Amino acid sequence: MNRKFKHAPASPKLPVLMHGADYNPDQWLHDPAVLEEDIRLMKLAGCNVMAVGIFAWTALEPEEGRFEFGWMDRLLDTFAENGIYAWLATPSGARPAWMSEKYPEVLRTGPNRVRNLHGLRHNHCYSSPVYRDKVNIMNTRLAERYSSHPAVIGWHISNEYGGECHCSYCQDAFREWLKEKYGTLDALNKAWWAAFWSHTYTSWEQVESPAPHGESMVHGQNLDWHRFVTHQTTDFYLAEIAPLKAVNSELPCTANLMDLFYDLDYRVLAKALDVISWDAYPMWHKEASDVGMATWFGFNHDIFRTLKQKPFLLMESTPSLTNWQSVSKLKRPGMHRLSSLQAIAHGSDSVQYFQWRKSRGSSEKFHGAVVDHVGHEHTRVFRDVAELGEELASLSELVGTSVPAEAAILFDWDNRWAVNDAQGPRNSGLHYEQTVVQHYRALWEQGVPVDVIGSDDPLDGYKLLVLPMTYLLRQDAGERIEAFVRAGGTVAMTYWSGVVDEHDLCRLDGFPGPLRAAAGIWAEEIEGLHDGESNEAVMQPGNPLGLEGSYRIHELCELIHTEGAETLAAYGQDFYAGRPMLTLNRFGEGKVYYLAARVADNAFYDAYYGALVREAGVRRALEAELPSGVTAQLRTDGEKDYVFLLNFSGEAAEVKLQEQGLTLLPSGESVPDTVALEANEALLLQRRARS
Ligand code: GLA
Ligand code: ZN
Repeated sequence: MNRKFKHAPASPKLPVLMHGADYNPDQWLHDPAVLEEDIRLMKLAGCNVMAVGIFAWTALEPEEGRFEFGWMDRLLDTFAENGIYAWLATPSGARPAWMSEKYPEVLRTGPNRVRNLHGLRHNHCYSSPVYRDKVNIMNTRLAERYSSHPAVIGWHISNEYGGECHCSYCQDAFREWLKEKYGTLDALNKAWWAAFWSHTYTSWEQVESPAPHGESMVHGQNLDWHRFVTHQTTDFYLAEIAPLKAVNSELPCTANLMDLFYDLDYRVLAKALDVISWDAYPMWHKEASDVGMATWFGFNHDIFRTLKQKPFLLMESTPSLTNWQSVSKLKRPGMHRLSSLQAIAHGSDSVQYFQWRKSRGSSEKFHGAVVDHVGHEHTRVFRDVAELGEELASLSELVGTSVPAEAAILFDWDNRWAVNDAQGPRNSGLHYEQTVVQHYRALWEQGVPVDVIGSDDPLDGYKLLVLPMTYLLRQDAGERIEAFVRAGGTVAMTYWSGVVDEHDLCRLDGFPGPLRAAAGIWAEEIEGLHDGESNEAVMQPGNPLGLEGSYRIHELCELIHTEGAETLAAYGQDFYAGRPMLTLNRFGEGKVYYLAARVADNAFYDAYYGALVREAGVRRALEAELPSGVTAQLRTDGEKDYVFLLNFSGEAAEVKLQEQGLTLLPSGESVPDTVALEANEALLLQRRARS
């Protein structure tokens, strides 16, 4: 892998950590004093960037063909005079009412084939020629007017792309995409196993998108529909940026993404983006300890960094609370800084918020903002934001630094879609995503930097590869993983892997299919356990990982046969007793561990991955005893390492260091052997880079 330690900043105009918010002055055009006051407050809060115009289509084109750019001119000029930069949005995320009225085809059609009325946002058709045309006209105007504006650092394309449309344009596009992919109906029928329930198609016109009152059970079709939606959304994005790139190809484009978003394969969309950005809204303080939340969001940060193997932007986060979660809790003291530095620690080069100023009306009027309804700076939230702004301004050296991960977790969107669509072995809760994060958590607890990769990503450079429930595993991906092991890599895989191919057709060569030889096992049967049912994993005496005792198994158990692998743990109960539950196969220069059941306790994963990390010599961010809930994360420029100590345990904690030569940032003081952290505290340490 071609690893770069230091990357260029997202914009050469602003080579510092970005700090700012979504800004909607289009809601305040009736009161020009607001903009003036906002500029004063932005400077006071240490903000250097705003995302503007995201939902401003009506303000920019109040009537078809009549454009109003005066307010945007004034806004951007005022920004430029005051050293504030802008991610300028294309406004396609919400349409003016005149457009829906005149051209109903721009509205989205649901899976039930009913077209939406005008309203809400994020509800346009991605295929409609009229909508694409209107977007093209608007984006061309914006590009011609603002591409060279000194305040503009890049394009914020639309907003949180998502959803699907089932109109006749989209059906046609789906059929075209299928023709391109399969060539013949015969190939499509084979890939979709269409003989089942007599589903064989005899003309392309018979093929439709999945529907609640039509076809929904053909797994291959469902999978292809997901892929098509990704394709069509990416195609729409490409149509959006074409006029922008035509005017100024240098300005970077980003689209704000969402955590573990289901609808789109972000690895496909990411290829078309210049910069990855995403919107993170953790529900802090939902439980006594924030570890579950922190690991979920740490995992997401790691995905977004890995998408391009370079820093991303935190485009949105709330400075205080949201108003759409089931319960809206305020951030406790320290949490704003901790949560923001968590993003930086995992590779973000920005901390940006939704939103700068609270709306006065409508559905987000109670969503947290830097500036509250009261309108001044004397609030707890404003102080938190301003203090962070000051700190971020002192950390410019972090911009562009990388995260040198030697461990990777495989997470493919098509596996996710297929495993969740599978019907069996546990429809009452398969918990795929939670399982992936349960494995991740054990690495997080040890402060191991982790990449979250897809099947097409290169594997060289990693020492440990984790494959949790890699149910859909392409033959070629399996072969590359096998080669990784042969060359000395360690793989930790689980039950329900290597079951189907890229068409969601079951493998006929014995599970885990392409990894059967490398794993040295054959998985014969799998069963789901009811809630409350359990089995037991009994560690075998003298096992090479030094694991001890027994752990509770729940939810999923596989019956496997060793075919060369040795047994490290066996089942303890039921007719399973004595059968292998955790195995090790030495293969080539490397090793494959196979976990045949879902262990309930985190303690097992801590012990298991602790041993694997030690044995495979995987880099940790910091040599230290990290108490539970405290993680260490690492960024480096190849000369200096930046180590973030983040305490999400909900209580005060102590970290005993097992290495020397660290100093505190920004003070430069040397770090004591035992570091004390308050609840919700983050510390930033620095040392000479370790190779
Ligand atoms: C999303 C959207 C924003 C806003 C926030 C509220 O991330 O992009 O426009 O609605 O949610 O949390
Ligand atoms: Zn459509």
